[in-house]
Amino acid sequence: MLKNFNFKNVKKKNFSKVKLVGYAFRKANLNKTTFSKSNLEKIDFWSADLEKVNFKETILKNCILSDTDLRKTIISKTNFLNSNLSHSNLSGLNLKNSTFKNVNLREAIYDNKTIWPKKFDPSFFGATKIKKNRNKLKSKKSSQFINNVVNELKNKSGFYVFKNYFSNKDVNKAKKIILRVSKIKKDLAFSSDKKNNQKYILNLIALDDIFKKLIQPKIVMPIFEKLLGKKFICGNFCANSLFPGARGQKPHIDYPYMNMKNIYKKTPPLNFSNEIILNCQTMILLDDFTNQNGATEFVPGSQKFKTYPTQKAFDKNKIQLIYPKGTLIIFNGLAWHGSSSNFSYKERVAILGQYLPFFITPMSNLKNCLKKKDIKNLDSGLRQLLGIDLVHPVQNLRY
Ligand SMILES: [Fe+2]
Repeated sequence: MLKNFNFKNVKKKNFSKVKLVGYAFRKANLNKTTFSKSNLEKIDFWSADLEKVNFKETILKNCILSDTDLRKTIISKTNFLNSNLSHSNLSGLNLKNSTFKNVNLREAIYDNKTIWPKKFDPSFFGATKIKKNRNKLKSKKSSQFINNVVNELKNKSGFYVFKNYFSNKDVNKAKKIILRVSKIKKDLAFSSDKKNNQKYILNLIALDDIFKKLIQPKIVMPIFEKLLGKKFICGNFCANSLFPGARGQKPHIDYPYMNMKNIYKKTPPLNFSNEIILNCQTMILLDDFTNQNGATEFVPGSQKFKTYPTQKAFDKNKIQLIYPKGTLIIFNGLAWHGSSSNFSYKERVAILGQYLPFFITPMSNLKNCLKKKDIKNLDSGLRQLLGIDLVHPVQNLRY
């Protein structure tokens, strides 16, 4: 039985240069108490008030510091061994001269002012870095903006346009690579089948780093996280080029909804949920979309119908998305859309991205087009989108 000081007021006490074993200070107020140069073993500080508590040159072995706010605790040359610091707050601390061995930092937080010992990776032990909201107004505005776009995709038009979002430099670079890889035969017979004039490139992220940028537009990621949940993934990311004479695409809704189409022969399905969204799409225009070159056709608000489109209903309500190159369009995969044909004499190139909750099996295994060494170097956003650390099922029940 631990010596019990739970909920007690133990502040300003001096426990320096002693060996303490088996004390419980749960929820105790230890304000300004010193444990400097002490050897602490099996001490339970769960949720204790450790403000200005002195742990200078202290050894904490098998101790519990869960749910403590350590921001104003004196930690210097402190030795944490086999101890539990889960859910603690380590923001702003200089821990450079302290040591951490076999510690539990699950859901502990720290910030960019926290200095960790050399070669110590807090995230490996479960800690999370938090960002300070330097500008609260800015952050409030941005969360308001995110909510507005989320609402637009769910309950209003079903799409949102970021006009001229990508620079000419990025767009031209991406397009040049796509055209090089497309290898479309320039001298197609005048009357050749029009399907030869349309081309998908599926392995974009393996082609150049520019596509690793385009697959995760900064502005879109927090919006998709709200719509698709944490750990959402990218199920397909490809170029869709309509060369001159290419036929359009019939109206449809996107994967995984489209796979339910054939279950219903006569009546369209009516039970798709718009509460939990199973697909959001990005479309990046690498050419100006015009009413002649195969601009996307879209029925605003059709995500609310929760049905597969008929050509007749689609034609009656569609609009064309006519925007300049560099524009980024996002939309709800339940919304009716398709593309018109390219009647112009120039190509019309776009990049399409498909984003899904982590529990949906993606259409493409995007990580398979990367080499092992490239996967190692991916940033955390791409690791998430490609599902690198994703395990299905989540629980491993091997007994
Ligand atoms: Fe589509």
